[in-house]
Amino acid sequence: MKPSAHAVSQYAETTGNLVARIALHSYGTNPQDWFAWLEERLPLRGDVLEVGAGTGKLWSQIDHVARGLRLTLVDFSPAMCAELRKIPAAVVHEASALELPFEDASFDTLIANHMLYHVDDPALALREFARVLRPGGKLAVAVNGGTHMAELFALAPVIGHPELARGLTMNDFTAEAGPGYLARYFTDVESERYPSDLAVPTAEPIIAYLASLVGAPLTPDQEAAARAVVQPVIDANGNYPIRKHTVLLTATRPA
Ligand SMILES: C[S@@+](CC[C@H](N)C(=O)[O-])C[C@H]1O[C@@H](n2cnc3c(N)ncnc32)[C@H](O)[C@@H]1O
Repeated sequence: MKPSAHAVSQYAETTGNLVARIALHSYGTNPQDWFAWLEERLPLRGDVLEVGAGTGKLWSQIDHVARGLRLTLVDFSPAMCAELRKIPAAVVHEASALELPFEDASFDTLIANHMLYHVDDPALALREFARVLRPGGKLAVAVNGGTHMAELFALAPVIGHPELARGLTMNDFTAEAGPGYLARYFTDVESERYPSDLAVPTAEPIIAYLASLVGAPLTPDQEAAARAVVQPVIDANGNYPIRKHTVLLTATRPA
């Protein structure tokens, strides 16, 4: 089963779009960044699978070798997998979340960090996650709320791309709907919000983020239009504020 057309256009051939987006989050108002906050809460043990692992940023935070974890990483993107293969002692598979190349009950923990909103059918992916988890195994899913980064996505029409104003969520898998989705295949579903917003001190990382959504550098006119909105706010406030809404959902694979 193929990854979504949106995921292919964003990620198949480049890590650049993801890298530009992660960079904007370095302007978080919470001194504990997302990956450090996540590490404290992930139910890590034994055989760990991350699906949609991207550039593997989580594993520069977590020392899986020192913690005795057996790590497997999956991404459909050849560009991402080339990065993932640089991570020591990790087994990497280029594969789709909807058709994982593993036997039933192979893992103790499965992580899907900011990826389920990219798949065409999140329920199908969750059924596949339940299949490869052992009974009692733990699922950890990070997902955004419906108004996540609204101030950023409001700039999409400003640069002539109103279709990008919906943000990165390509289906209805949001922080609000996520717990109901998980409850179809998992028990003990819990949700915890990561407390942070963004305060971006210059226009450049915002321009880079917008370019990542378009998938190409902004034209001089697009860039000028975005700056005309962002720069006066920075001049007045010292930063451009963007509200975040990200949650970690955890659940257990029933016996
Ligand atoms: C927003 S990125 C998140 C990457 C990483 N988890 C992180 O948080 O830095 C989403 C990732 O999911 C991958 N992806 C999207 N759809 C997928 C699918 N159907 N199967 C496997 N990987 C997928 C993309 O290639 C991309 O690397």
